Amino acid sequence: MIYLKTPEEIEKMKTACQLLSKTFGEIAKWVEPGVTTNKLDTVAREFMRDNGAKPACLGYEGFPATLCIEVNETVVHGFPSNYGLRDGDIVGIDTVLELDGFNADMCYTFPVGNVNPDVMSLCITTKESLYKGIEACKVGNRIGDIANAVQTYCEKRGYTVVREMCGHGIGKSMHEDPEIPNYGRRGTGPLIKNGMCLCIEPMINLGSRNIVIERDGWQCRTKDRKPSAHYEHTVAILNDETQILTTFDYIQEVLGDRFI
Ligand code: MF3
Ligand code: CO
Repeated sequence: MIYLKTPEEIEKMKTACQLLSKTFGEIAKWVEPGVTTNKLDTVAREFMRDNGAKPACLGYEGFPATLCIEVNETVVHGFPSNYGLRDGDIVGIDTVLELDGFNADMCYTFPVGNVNPDVMSLCITTKESLYKGIEACKVGNRIGDIANAVQTYCEKRGYTVVREMCGHGIGKSMHEDPEIPNYGRRGTGPLIKNGMCLCIEPMINLGSRNIVIERDGWQCRTKDRKPSAHYEHTVAILNDETQILTTFDYIQEVLGDRFI
């Protein structure tokens, strides 16, 4: 069941997404070699709560933390820990907050210190593919158009697309229909309509597309242990435009010329 949102509901989504984007600005201040991913989790959890929001991942189907932490080969749903980030790592941070009954979801992969150019290119392409997906995300198109835009962009550049994990609708629940794969055929899947709120989130690998889910049922890594990148925005579809509700601007303010 796909829930179409009223203009009032989209305003609430926008407010939640603004606060989530600011949370990433706070996290960005701490991302550097030596910081533990537990520390990042605490910063995010406290900032959300101080601003009246609920850290929606914490306790979601048993997930143990506020942030999903994706260091290097981790694709999605990694747990924060006492691991200290190292020069040359990339760390995807993916999280959801709930404010006034509505959810906002966003992910950004940060370079830590000096990152190998091949891995930087993976991150840049993944982020660009997110915007290619968003360009295809408009009234009258189909979900397969988003999927195909992401897949084509990444595979042309020699990367592979994780198939087991998808984007999704969002609203009063963090995961709503439809599923949004990052691979597929143009002109297939559900029609994109006015009032939809969607999360587009390419997960792209440097090596093979195969993944392994750890025995905890959550943490997901590449099978070949090569790096994976992940970026995500929440968007709202209106008849005359698609609005990107989350923004990386607060991250950019903090990172300056280290922003990718
Ligand atoms: N963006 C992630 C997703 O849609 C957020 C997961 S939160 C978790 O799967 F609680 F499920 F980990
Ligand atoms: Co998501």
